[in-house]
Amino acid sequence: MLCPWFGFVRAFASRTSCKVLPELGRSWIRRYSKKLEEEHDLAFSTDRIRNFCIVAHVDHGKSTLADRLLELTGTIPQSAQNKQVLDKLPVERERGITVKAQTATMVYRHGGTSYLLNLIDTPGHVDFSYEVSRSLAASQGVILLVDANEGVQAQTVANFFLAFEAELAIIPVINKIDLKNAAPMQVATQIERLFDIPRSSCIQISAKLGTNIEAVLQAVVENVPPPQGQRDKPLCALLFDSAFEPYRGVVALLALESGQLARGSRIVAAHSGRDYEVLEVGLLRPQEHPQLCLYAGQVGYMVAGMKTAQEAQIGDTIYSYGQPVDPLPGFKPAKPLVFAGMFPIDQSEYVMLRKALEKLMLNDPSVTLIPETSIVLGAGWRLGFLGLLHMDVFYQRLEQEYQASVIRTAPSVTFRARLRSQKLIKEYGKEEISILSPSRFPDRVEVSEYLEPMILATIVTPLEHMKQIMTVCQDCRGTQKEFLNMDDNRVVLKYLLPLSEIISDFYDVLKSLSSGYASFDYEDAGFQVADLVRVDYLLNGTGVEELATVVQREKARHVGKAMCVRLTEVIPRQLFQIAVQAVIHGKVIARETIKPYRKDVLAKCHGGDVTRRMKLLKRQAEGKRSMRRIGNVEVPREAFLRLLRKT
Ligand code: GTP
Repeated sequence: MLCPWFGFVRAFASRTSCKVLPELGRSWIRRYSKKLEEEHDLAFSTDRIRNFCIVAHVDHGKSTLADRLLELTGTIPQSAQNKQVLDKLPVERERGITVKAQTATMVYRHGGTSYLLNLIDTPGHVDFSYEVSRSLAASQGVILLVDANEGVQAQTVANFFLAFEAELAIIPVINKIDLKNAAPMQVATQIERLFDIPRSSCIQISAKLGTNIEAVLQAVVENVPPPQGQRDKPLCALLFDSAFEPYRGVVALLALESGQLARGSRIVAAHSGRDYEVLEVGLLRPQEHPQLCLYAGQVGYMVAGMKTAQEAQIGDTIYSYGQPVDPLPGFKPAKPLVFAGMFPIDQSEYVMLRKALEKLMLNDPSVTLIPETSIVLGAGWRLGFLGLLHMDVFYQRLEQEYQASVIRTAPSVTFRARLRSQKLIKEYGKEEISILSPSRFPDRVEVSEYLEPMILATIVTPLEHMKQIMTVCQDCRGTQKEFLNMDDNRVVLKYLLPLSEIISDFYDVLKSLSSGYASFDYEDAGFQVADLVRVDYLLNGTGVEELATVVQREKARHVGKAMCVRLTEVIPRQLFQIAVQAVIHGKVIARETIKPYRKDVLAKCHGGDVTRRMKLLKRQAEGKRSMRRIGNVEVPREAFLRLLRKT
């Protein structure tokens, strides 16, 4: 479509003898001609396109390799300042981790032919594996990057199988060969043993020093198949990622399966059936590089006036208005595993915080949110996250990008119950319910069984720490599923574990036991029958509703005792003795006592002016007003915050 115009405009603009055109017009034509030339240059036929992503365990050097690939192809200027240029979010730069997959298109010349390479740099941490699975859907191949010092780790195994199941070409690359303790041959043996990839096909590089990077690009061109799409077919594009900008709305990332997507055309989002005018399309190099048209096989961005996350469903199919196509399979929705409460510090900030949450969730649609109200903390929300790091990153982004400070409660998991009581089945309209709050925990007689969420953990550890790690897994009620010798020094363990056991400090324990050498990855393994009970807490016989918890029966005594001790630490002593009790069905399982104490605010005020005494007594009365009365016990709000919030 562009070719006839392209030649004409260039010839026209280059006619410097044309005296009648004012200078302004000539420069415009020159600029337009240049733009058309670039457009023309990037309109590669599908056999000259390669789409791939880099996958690896955390910190094995994905973003550093991406820097070198961008430099080598001239996409960004070579500079010592180029450090993880694709990690753009403040939280990524601060923590030195990738949390959002990033796309960059490069042009690379190989064997006399230019190729359009689309690279996606993915996060390495297990919480963000949803990002990896989406990136794989927009690729035909992966670079499986392994640290020459650390060898194959838990996320290397997980990412390999994701790519293998998606039937993508896999290019094994061993990075950091410059390190003193690098053992690339040993790592190549691990790769051969675990993944059945010949040792000889592993490419050895140093992304930091830029050693052998050209070999990676050559392997991409030679081993990754070109996309299958045909330009002359109707448009069919996969929406695999999105970001939100306040003025332009949703910027959607698309992988074009077939057809063309031109600026100004009309498209339909299959999920909602809504149609839009395409305002802008382009490639990411790695900054936005607008184009007149995207073609089958290319990966690029589109702005079409979509204003909400619901309009730009991840995994949706985009087609031309009036030319519907069969929707692509899309993705399984992200499933939150860890839940935590979030409340404004001051209730007057509720509306502002809700707006900030809505905006951030447009950039991170894997977070779920339902309103929740707490007697102590007021109105807030219960948020679902993919894991603990995901939760921390979300809160940090909320603070950094939206200046919002919040009270967050400790993370928990969601249990389920299969109902026996016909009354409850009728009330809920189903036989199996999620227990979203301990206050809605159905009684044992009303259910046939309780269920708890499980995960299948993959742990890679040096042999010398294996026994201790197995003991920890057993203490966490784990069941061993698999055992594999990776080489003479390392083993892979697979355990079925209750999620509630790993959300506290399992990962830290694993790291400290193995001096940081063990790695851990997990996948959702559904629900399993569990013996659950609700533990209530009483202060002088009156229940404290907001502290009730649901726990494993065998852990109830331990959990109850720990909470009673915490309560004695945070509740100030009062004029009378306070009995702190943990109970199950009215039966006391733990008890502590807070001794009586009288705070005499006038103690230091001998003689003197009566107004000073009145002032001190008034201040004491005001302090009491901000307390919550439970039975005859006054509990300051701060005490609740210390008990409920994540420390
Ligand atoms: P995540 O996205 O968080 O999973 O990390 P990543 O895999 O993108 O790793 P990144 O590129 O951020 O590199 C992690 C660390 O390894 C950084 O400190 C890099 O400087 C360092 N690094 C990367 N490649 C090399 C290398 O070839 N040699 C050496 N010595 N260090 C490297």
